[in-house]
Amino acid sequence: MTRSVLSGSTPHMGLFIRTFGCQMNEYDSERMEGLLSRDGYGLAERPEDAGVIVINTCSIREKPEEKTYSEIGRYRDLKEKHPDLVLLVTGCVAQQKAAEIIERFPVVDGVIGTHRVGEISDIVREIKEGRGPVVSIGLSDECRIDSYPRRRGAISSFVTITQGCDNYCSYCIVPFVRGRESSRTSSEIVRDIKELTAGGTVEITLLGQNVNSYRDPERGIDFPELLERVAEIPGVGRLRFTTSHPKDLSDRLFDAFRTIPVLCSHVHLPLQAGSSRVLAAMNRKYTKEGYLEIIDALRDARDDLAVTTDIIVGFPGETVDEFEETLDVMERVRFDGAYSFKFSPRPGTKAASLTDAVDDEEKSRRLAILQELQREHTLCTNRLHVDTVKEVLATGTSLRDPAVITGRSVHNKVVNFTGRHEDIGTLIPVKIIEARNNSLLGEAIHNHSIRSM
Ligand code: 5AD
Ligand code: SF4
Repeated sequence: MTRSVLSGSTPHMGLFIRTFGCQMNEYDSERMEGLLSRDGYGLAERPEDAGVIVINTCSIREKPEEKTYSEIGRYRDLKEKHPDLVLLVTGCVAQQKAAEIIERFPVVDGVIGTHRVGEISDIVREIKEGRGPVVSIGLSDECRIDSYPRRRGAISSFVTITQGCDNYCSYCIVPFVRGRESSRTSSEIVRDIKELTAGGTVEITLLGQNVNSYRDPERGIDFPELLERVAEIPGVGRLRFTTSHPKDLSDRLFDAFRTIPVLCSHVHLPLQAGSSRVLAAMNRKYTKEGYLEIIDALRDARDDLAVTTDIIVGFPGETVDEFEETLDVMERVRFDGAYSFKFSPRPGTKAASLTDAVDDEEKSRRLAILQELQREHTLCTNRLHVDTVKEVLATGTSLRDPAVITGRSVHNKVVNFTGRHEDIGTLIPVKIIEARNNSLLGEAIHNHSIRSM
């Protein structure tokens, strides 16, 4: 995703950020934008208009990692034309491959690791003073996420509550590039959210690699209690969280879905695989049956809960029967959506050294079967909403047709609807008329009471 909203006052004060990967990276990009805004930088529309370019990289699988290298190469010519342009590489590839990046790409002025985002202003200054290239990649056990100047008026905002991950799923690079898990204090989180709602934010998404293991380092508040506290903040019209690990869901979290009305009816709960043997090899610490029980408990607490997931096909040693167990879980749960991936060995992880690889053609075959099944399920779950009225947070106009308003339902479905431009930024009742593969179509009903949905 490319961020480009405001232009800086002069090209030198323009900031162009190219973000790859997950919501953590999106958040870090927003943080860097906020921190550099204090020094006078504003987002630039195009890299040509920037004095600072940031490539915020992802290494979760091989493909995004390769993309980030070709992205660096794209700025070579620009840098030749404007030698005082500052080119920074940040994020997960930066964390792991700093020395390699500096050696292979002399155009890069600075490499900033995942725990060093807060240093961006100082690093840019050092480079401008001719003290580059700068590399800062130390990982710390303490939470390194601070408040930062936020863009005011965003309708929906992410607030990071934990950093890092201690789970060491055997396929996953995250614990190596994002460090040990640590939590921000609840008082800081609450302060951030109060500031956001005062600026007009309606929807808050609490963010972390594994939010359910949140624990306030000062007061011991756990995740369900944090949800309660955040829900009480005036102006929080909607509350979401991501990502959850099935092993850390508790009865109190299920209760939160019973008792907190602003908590949206959606949970993203990565399954990864449907076979208990594969799950054990992945070090996921739950079984197929355990996962299904959690889904039952969640739906018992909120009967309309939408569930989305992540699934990996072709983990080393996964047999056809084991893959079919994944399809079986999909049939039983009927996910509203799934991100699915071919297993990609990540150097340094335990699974990368496993033999018994599934060949790429077979991985592609399994992925295609899985994605076709999910397409059917997504459409079926979308159809359940037709002829009902849903509360939609209107976030803007449709890219294809500016007359159409777009937003998301509490179930996190994209809803495109006929409504008024004044609806943007508010919660609107929308009558759903049609279900598409990846969205719902509807029309606003302005005289409908929001409480009856
Ligand atoms: N190969 C394939 N998919 C992976 N994911 C994480 N690591 C790998 C890997 N090595 C997927 C998981 C995770 C999502 C963010 O990316 O499904 O939940
Ligand atoms: Fe990776 Fe597992 Fe941590 Fe998720 S929980 S970030 S998959 S190690």
